[in-house]
Amino acid sequence: MMTKLSVNINKFATLRNARGGNNPNILKVAQDCERFGAQGITVHPRPDERHIRYQDVLDLSKTVQVELNIEGYPNQKYLDMLQKVRPAQATLVPDPPHVLTSNQGWDTIAHQDFLKKVVAKIQALGIRCSVFVAPEEKTIIAAAALGADRIELYTEHYVQHYVQHKNEMIQPYRTSAEKAKAFGIGVNAGHGLSLTNLAFLKKSIPWLSEVSIGHALICDALYFGLEKTIHMYLEQLK
Ligand code: PXP
Repeated sequence: MMTKLSVNINKFATLRNARGGNNPNILKVAQDCERFGAQGITVHPRPDERHIRYQDVLDLSKTVQVELNIEGYPNQKYLDMLQKVRPAQATLVPDPPHVLTSNQGWDTIAHQDFLKKVVAKIQALGIRCSVFVAPEEKTIIAAAALGADRIELYTEHYVQHYVQHKNEMIQPYRTSAEKAKAFGIGVNAGHGLSLTNLAFLKKSIPWLSEVSIGHALICDALYFGLEKTIHMYLEQLK
């Protein structure tokens, strides 16, 4: 099964915002990622717009040809944006507004009622809905009860301990992905994925639908260039 590479382009916007102006041009970056083989573009606008801005998302929605994935906390602003943009996928994250980067998955049990309503609203717009979760059995079971189309496994823990303990670390991810599969839910993964740890994740969970990768890919692009870097990541997913 093919695992799609969705490039998270937030960091390009951070670079642009550091100087004002429009360099690098986010629309061109997204087009080039597509041209170089990425099968998805991910953005995560945050309330303070410190990297991707809401206007960027509107602009991108007119030019991106591959799957657009919009991550975010499902407040009214986020839901209004989904209604306007109609991306292929919405990924719900539980981030408080000023967090540096996503640092946890949803507690799908505690927030069951809230998430259930949000997931249904998003699906009614014709948008596939994915829920960002830690690899815990009870969390996955509750995610299935929400009616989510997919889960995105929060891979930070796997990534942190990959070098010393990859076989042990992968276990909860594999078990969770098996559970999701049994429920008929697609499995995405993201956070901290890199050329070091991606191939083993894919080998361990061959039915992964999508990985979304930002930070490491963009760091690698500084050395190898964007085109070569995207090819290298695609190679890891074969
Ligand atoms: N998935 C989610 C839900 C995220 O919030 C992020 C970071 O914004 C990523 C994936 C990508 O993480 P990274 O930048 O470490 O590749």
